[in-house]
Amino acid sequence: MNNNLHIAIIMDGNGRWAQSQGLMRKSGHEKGAEVVRDITTFCSNSEIVSRLSLYAFSTENWKRPRLEVEFLMKLLDSWLKKELPIYIKNGVKLESIGDISRFSNSLQKTIRDVEEKTAHCTGLIQSLALNYGARDEITRALQKIQKQNIEVSESNITNALDCPQDIDLLIRTGGDRRLSNFMLWQASYAELFFSDTLWPDFNSRELATIIDKFLHVERRFGGLK
Ligand code: FPP
Repeated sequence: MNNNLHIAIIMDGNGRWAQSQGLMRKSGHEKGAEVVRDITTFCSNSEIVSRLSLYAFSTENWKRPRLEVEFLMKLLDSWLKKELPIYIKNGVKLESIGDISRFSNSLQKTIRDVEEKTAHCTGLIQSLALNYGARDEITRALQKIQKQNIEVSESNITNALDCPQDIDLLIRTGGDRRLSNFMLWQASYAELFFSDTLWPDFNSRELATIIDKFLHVERRFGGLK
């Protein structure tokens, strides 16, 4: 059995969940952050998942109201600090993907600190997409290649990306059926699953059901049976 599965999740629906409960949008993000912990712990205990990529903040999310952006930044900072001992206990290595240089110096420091302190972990890799957009990632990869003066080939592009691993299973919660500029290169042969569940209501039981369905799909990668 493949024990090197890369699962990627577009976590959508925090705002609608909060609205449905009569709460402020920020409560949806707080509840969403708790679900991130549940799903990461589940994947770190799984024998078949090697990488979990999560879309936490996109290059387009800056268009949200300033207060919501500021809240998300603060939540990320406090959440990462709180999460560090749990990452270490579960052997989870944090690798941010995206261009974090637009974040405040203190948030960049928190992210780098957690990355350094989990660099020795050999279990699950959590790729947290922060100020991430696939077009931006591919553009930066091509710029690296140009600077290194090496051949523009599929393997050189893949290796120059923030995350070089192909996605096996890509899930989007919240009912929409689009990729929203998330890991477009890595998703070339991914199986796509769309769930109507709003992210704060998503849980490891639903993820286990999706993984089970995924394991029964025959993947041909463009070939024949
Ligand atoms: C989409 O919900 C979610 C996000 C903007 C990003 C995901 C953020 C979290 C899960 C919380 C923080 C994460 C970490 C790692 C601490 P939305 O606001 O677009 O929902 P809506 O479509 O219902 O408005």
